[in-house]
Amino acid sequence: MNVYDSDRMADVLAPLGYSPSSDADDADMVIINTCHIREKASEKVFSELGRLRKWKEARRRDGHNATIAVAGCVAQAEGQEISRRAPWVDVVVGPQAYHRLPALVTEIDPAARNARIDTDFPVEDKFDFLPEEHTPRGPAAFLSIQEGCDKFCTFCVVPYTRGAEYSRPAASILEEARRLVGAGSVELSLLGQNVNAWRGQSPDGGEWNFARLLRALAEIDGLKRLRYTTSHPRDMDDELISAHADIPQLMPYLHLPVQSGSDRILAAMNRHHTRDDYRRIIDRLREVRPDMALSGDFIVGFPGETDRDFADTINLIAEIGYASAYSFKYSPRPGTPASTDENQIDETVKAERLASLQQLVSAQQLAFNMEKLGTVMDVLIERPASRDGQKAGRSPWMQAVHFPATSGEIGAIIPLRIVGAHQNSLAGEPVDSNSVEMKTA
Ligand code: 5AD
Ligand code: SF4
Repeated sequence: MNVYDSDRMADVLAPLGYSPSSDADDADMVIINTCHIREKASEKVFSELGRLRKWKEARRRDGHNATIAVAGCVAQAEGQEISRRAPWVDVVVGPQAYHRLPALVTEIDPAARNARIDTDFPVEDKFDFLPEEHTPRGPAAFLSIQEGCDKFCTFCVVPYTRGAEYSRPAASILEEARRLVGAGSVELSLLGQNVNAWRGQSPDGGEWNFARLLRALAEIDGLKRLRYTTSHPRDMDDELISAHADIPQLMPYLHLPVQSGSDRILAAMNRHHTRDDYRRIIDRLREVRPDMALSGDFIVGFPGETDRDFADTINLIAEIGYASAYSFKYSPRPGTPASTDENQIDETVKAERLASLQQLVSAQQLAFNMEKLGTVMDVLIERPASRDGQKAGRSPWMQAVHFPATSGEIGAIIPLRIVGAHQNSLAGEPVDSNSVEMKTA
């Protein structure tokens, strides 16, 4: 979502003459777009701001403009603190207010000693104020359709920083999707903190659920692949599961966080689902799409987590079998209920649990990749690879695939034979190639 938001900030600033730069030393403005869900997010922002203070002084000495803006959820949560501790910051803007960046930037007063702060949750819909995309987004584009969260998991800051659940109207989503496809994107990843909780106004003024929206998107001519992230098990309804059976563009990969395999911990996390609920959802998904690749998020060392609770997480992972997963040591986030729980877990225990969980998930990921050896799969060519003579793309199951650059053009979906399988990627070759080389991890 931060990649999407950053692109949109570039769009909104384009009429003022700004364009993205890969080098701060050439830039007139630096925007730090922050994510508060990451551990030590604020400390990282303040240390970056320390470096940027020197950048600003040096740029100013050379007679250039040097504006510093902080955007995203850390800006939302810590606007006043940023202005107090880093008075060289010019603008602080929350995730719901970045359509107002041009006004904020224009109003900067060089003599002012504090940042212009806009961390409102405005009544207007920022999406109505965002201009069309300034530059094409490439073959695989993001599209934000839902923001915020009403679920209040006890470890999570999102409901506080991103605000209440909000679904963009379908007409506005469809319009953006058509524009993206018209500009050359063939894959769309729909984004939302609770993307499958999307429930919004339909183009004729009625109401659609998420499955219905997917069906409408799938009708866009030229759209070949659809993905969505991140979902909550509670919103994985029957209609959405059947959508995976009969929308050919929906890719067989789902990121569905479960966080823990222990019912006791799930209840303490306020997840409103049990381990069995989650297992049943996966069973039904695999019934309709047997090749479904699964990914998830896991937290180890949540307050009160016993060895037995952790063992339940491990045996759930063993049972499900993941193609990839993200895992974190629980870290207390100020203002969240779990942060004041007295039963915090020792850091060394958390580290041990995380290491053993990651070992299991890594083995599953490698096994999943190895299964594809020798098979032929459709790969969307996304970009030149870092290695010379290679291009990089994605399999239907989200695996990164590297292959000879001569195999096809960026934006094409081509069949490749998988000749190498590694921990984090596959190696492919054109199917008409005579190569019989079998590389393994
Ligand atoms: N501690 C550790 N991990 C967290 N996450 C969210 N909040 C915390 C926290 N306080 C993880 C969850 C979530 C992912 C985006 O980040 O697993 O799904
Ligand atoms: Fe955070 Fe996701 Fe829980 Fe919402 S559902 S509170 S975003 S972890």
